[in-house]
Amino acid sequence: MSPDLTTTYLGLSLRSPLMVSSCPLTGDLDTLAEIEQAGAAAVVLPSLFEEQLVRDELHLDQVLEQGAYAFGESLTYFPDMPDYGVGPDAYLDLVSSAKARLSIPVIASLNADSTGGWVRYAELLQKAGADAVELNVYLIAADTGKTASQVEDEYLQLVGDVRAALDIPMAVKLSPYFSSLANMAVRIDAAGADGLVMFNRFYQPDLDLDTLEVVPSIELSQPWELRLPLRWIAVLYGRVTASLAASSGVSDAEGVAKVLLAGADVAMMASAMLLHGVRYLPLVEANLVRWMEANDYESVTQLKGSVSYQGAANPAAFERTNYMRTLASYE
Ligand SMILES: Cc1cc2nc3c(=O)[nH]c(=O)nc-3n(C[C@H](O)[C@H](O)[C@H](O)COP(=O)(O)O)c2cc1C
Repeated sequence: MSPDLTTTYLGLSLRSPLMVSSCPLTGDLDTLAEIEQAGAAAVVLPSLFEEQLVRDELHLDQVLEQGAYAFGESLTYFPDMPDYGVGPDAYLDLVSSAKARLSIPVIASLNADSTGGWVRYAELLQKAGADAVELNVYLIAADTGKTASQVEDEYLQLVGDVRAALDIPMAVKLSPYFSSLANMAVRIDAAGADGLVMFNRFYQPDLDLDTLEVVPSIELSQPWELRLPLRWIAVLYGRVTASLAASSGVSDAEGVAKVLLAGADVAMMASAMLLHGVRYLPLVEANLVRWMEANDYESVTQLKGSVSYQGAANPAAFERTNYMRTLASYE
């Protein structure tokens, strides 16, 4: 009998642990239908950016009030994004059309930078029919006057505020750059997150030496990037009530098996889909099934967390031993 691939994520029952994460592919209805056809268990739509919302509203204000407004600082930096993401109305349409067309869960993603924005738009996404909301908290702590605990408190405040406003499940896409990531994850869990997506990928801009301009650079992930979520999923498995999703470097069935063994409920892919196309998904699933059969795993449930740190009384000491062993292994 074929292994049972079913899993649960954010309380949603899924046919398998394979999801497509937030990326341009999930912003197009026909591609979403292809993704479902290819066997994805759920999808996360591209993020709706608060700046897009604010800019659209300012535009409306401008029309109504003939320019009697002041720009927020971020808006002056904010580029036109004709090819990526959409304005609020089109985004809400995308959510409701995706819901009408697909039978798999559709998770909307919100990237906002002020508490008011998060709450308001999360509510709209819920109203549009999203099965869940993923908060893409893209926060670069570059304010030299702000302490780590101030940054963390802001983060937790907005998680709690959005949670209070929503009836549907909410996932938080985490940054790996917290001083005490495990503690922060536990606090985000306690603030009401139903899922932790590990991790948000922080794109690092480059500098053009001819023009001295900052050039945006987005590179697809490499398979070795899986090791960061792999470690932290293994650390957090059994220590939070929230579901765990791996995002970053999941590129094949082996990667999926690894994150499940570490304790993930689902494995999300963006780069692999962009690189190989949606038709790569059935191959990943078939290889996962083959790997499970070859290793006598009957279900994803049986796989989940079987190589986590749950048995380690002190994960920090475990990590330190591993560090020493890794250095000693160099030949
Ligand atoms: C072109 C591109 C666009 C992306 N857009 C978003 C986005 O709008 N919101 C978001 O939360 N993540 C976005 N991501 C990040 C992915 O969802 C994912 O977290 C990241 O690429 C790591 O996973 P991967 O190794 O499978 O690519 C984007 C990634 C790529 C490559």
